[in-house]
Amino acid sequence: MCGIVGYIGDKQAQEIIIGGLQKLEYRGYDSAGIAVLTEQGLLVDKAQGRLAVLEGKLAVQPLAGHAGIGHTRWATHGKPSDENAHPHTDSSHKFAVVHNGIIENFIPIKEELISKGYTFTSETDTEVIAHLLADLYDGDIVSTVRKAVQRMRGAYALGIMTEHEPDKLVAVRLASPLIVGVGEGQSFIGSDIPALLEHTRDVYILNEGEMAVLTKGGVELMDAQTGEKIERDIFHVDWDLIQAEKGGYDSFMLKEIHEQPQAVRDTMGARIDEDNKRVVLPELNMSDAELSAYDRLYIVACGTSMHAGLVGKDVLEKWTRVPVEVAVASEFRYRDPIYTDKTLMIVISQSGETADTLAALREAKKSGVKVLAITNVVGSSVAREADEVIFTWAGPEVAVASTKAYTSQVIALYLFSLYFAQVKGTLSAAEVADVVEHLQALPAKISAILDNGEPIRQFAKTIQNATSLFFIGRGLDYAVSLEGSLKLKEISYIHSEAYAAGELKHGTLALIEDDIPVVALATQADIYEKMVSNIVEVKARGAHVLGFALEGDRELAKSVDEVIHIPATTPMLTPILTVIPLQLLAYYTSAARGLDVDKPRNLAKSVTVE
Ligand code: F6R
Repeated sequence: MCGIVGYIGDKQAQEIIIGGLQKLEYRGYDSAGIAVLTEQGLLVDKAQGRLAVLEGKLAVQPLAGHAGIGHTRWATHGKPSDENAHPHTDSSHKFAVVHNGIIENFIPIKEELISKGYTFTSETDTEVIAHLLADLYDGDIVSTVRKAVQRMRGAYALGIMTEHEPDKLVAVRLASPLIVGVGEGQSFIGSDIPALLEHTRDVYILNEGEMAVLTKGGVELMDAQTGEKIERDIFHVDWDLIQAEKGGYDSFMLKEIHEQPQAVRDTMGARIDEDNKRVVLPELNMSDAELSAYDRLYIVACGTSMHAGLVGKDVLEKWTRVPVEVAVASEFRYRDPIYTDKTLMIVISQSGETADTLAALREAKKSGVKVLAITNVVGSSVAREADEVIFTWAGPEVAVASTKAYTSQVIALYLFSLYFAQVKGTLSAAEVADVVEHLQALPAKISAILDNGEPIRQFAKTIQNATSLFFIGRGLDYAVSLEGSLKLKEISYIHSEAYAAGELKHGTLALIEDDIPVVALATQADIYEKMVSNIVEVKARGAHVLGFALEGDRELAKSVDEVIHIPATTPMLTPILTVIPLQLLAYYTSAARGLDVDKPRNLAKSVTVE
């Protein structure tokens, strides 16, 4: 997730582009850059670090001109650096490109261009686009861009300009958001509405596969594949700036909850081999022999990331039959863990900067143990210090309460587990293909849950004044209960506990009294009846139970006060779906209590102290 701004008109492009990028910094902030058509030709300036670093450079040496494109980066391919910052240009500096997304087939395109003599200066997938445009250029940037996108697979929102046609900018999108703004004698490109709001409220929201050609006189929309013109009504934005930054949602948390279908899709991205329905993890530098030799895994993380690890444990053990221990990083670092030369440690961290997780990673490495990191932040300490990294590609997470990072971590764990099972041969090709198909169906199922949030909002109203509540489940449902409970307590300040439902009778059942709210997850077929018995135990002591069951379940409604059905999937994948209503429950409860959802008291987004 990066931010793109483009401008063409009579004003100075640099000022408008930098102003727009300031509004998009939440989309990425590891480097920034700008390209402007000046009297000296197409000039580019870029810098690693926050946008302010680039602003400092431009203050000394401004780029004067009336057309340009800019970018604020959240690194995907290639670490944060000046070279990897966008815009990228071709070798002759005639074409400049800014990109949000991932070009999945950039390696074969790059190899082809290198064989033709093109020289690459960055590690990014984006640079191939600039060279490809130069290679394909036929005197018309519009037809050239159309030819280029026909070669590209993946997700992209692109802003493109060329010195050959200084009166045009081109915008094109597939699976990454992009809008185009229309003003009096000026046109704009933006990743998101806040970037343009100061200059225009009239925008076109580009749909999948659509392209826009911008001149200062106006905007023309077309289908990027067929070239057919598209007529579209202008969308007039009546949000204020604060609403616009949150995508129209009233908090970053709610926005990020709704970004999960896309985040999950991005995590899977090119890691699923569509033709063979199996997992590929080209980022791993481990031979199959090395990977299959591991006979013991530790998963070490904190908070929500540790809860993702608990799902990972069950999945890894089920699919690979390798024993996995999950540990809280702050405990693990002071233990005396038992390592052998066949131990692999997996650390999970959204920020990649959590002090306890980092310390555990360092301890393990000191003992000669190989560390695989699952993290969201390219260039973070965890990403730099681990031996192997699987990035989650969820995009920046702003709200303190983690939502899309959790689901994308769980997806990364599914992918690693399937890959490990493929290598070890513990799942057949047909079994892997079956899970892969269920994985691919998850984004649509998450959207369906998000579209049906009203019953959760109603339940939140009933618990908003509760002083305590319980989440119960068994197996994977217990792992998700822990996450649901953490989410609720951290942003609503209501005391909440998650319990393995079968364990209640060993003490905690004493706390169940009339009307105490209990959220019960019952999605695991193999222990369904046992779970229903545990629900009956709390009901009998007066609890008010909200049950979660899979679509088609007619039984649970008989044992609970209220039931919410979630779309069915294969049992190991249910955590991705059950967690969504629990995130919504936490959000609605916090909002109903009038609390600051995004910035709960006493907490910080990145915990860099012990
Ligand atoms: C809770 C939450 C925290 C983090 C934890 C680890 O919503 O966000 O529990 O999961 O502080 O942070 P990372 O994943 O950045 O290491």
